Amino acid sequence: MTFHPKMPYDTGLHQSARQLPEAGEPFAFTPENLARLEDIARRYPPERRRSALLPALYLVQRQQGYVSARAMAHVAEVVGVTPAEVEDVVSYYTMFYAQRVGTYVLQVCRTLSCALNGAERITDVLSRKLGIKPGETDPTGTFTLMEVECLGACDRAPVVVVNDQWHECLKPEDAERLVDDLRTKGLDALSGCHLCVEKR
Ligand code: FES
Repeated sequence: MTFHPKMPYDTGLHQSARQLPEAGEPFAFTPENLARLEDIARRYPPERRRSALLPALYLVQRQQGYVSARAMAHVAEVVGVTPAEVEDVVSYYTMFYAQRVGTYVLQVCRTLSCALNGAERITDVLSRKLGIKPGETDPTGTFTLMEVECLGACDRAPVVVVNDQWHECLKPEDAERLVDDLRTKGLDALSGCHLCVEKR
């Protein structure tokens, strides 16, 4: 194996960019979730049982709040794939969290359309308001802030997803209000998708 002589492999980004999943506490599906998973798995031919991997991970996240390394190992066993394959999927999709997160996960898209429409300002406002940097959770465990790649709503940039709800065409003042609403109204602040284009 050869390496480029000038590349700083000991301090390079390739080491810090990827966070290893937390081992977490022992994990097994509750009987209810296992029954749900088996129900979903029956929709696929037996030799395609691995197709139930995404639903299985959603069930883990609903049960545990994130997908720990131990949960990945359990899912691998139940669905019939390798733990490495499960980790590949978890690390690819930003909707799965391999670390513990806050009650509200704010994901700011930083890809081109959003970047050109002020995503960086949105991140700055949220970061200042929450007192945390992207990738961090506040000490109360209420908010996690993340920067992610395209969230599939490029025509309504900039976009912030809070848990599973899209907030689009956000201005910095909208981002501030969003945090205020989450603090005062909790989950009620997330009722309904915020399609600002239709409001114009
Ligand atoms: S670039 Fe932000 S949603 Fe696509």
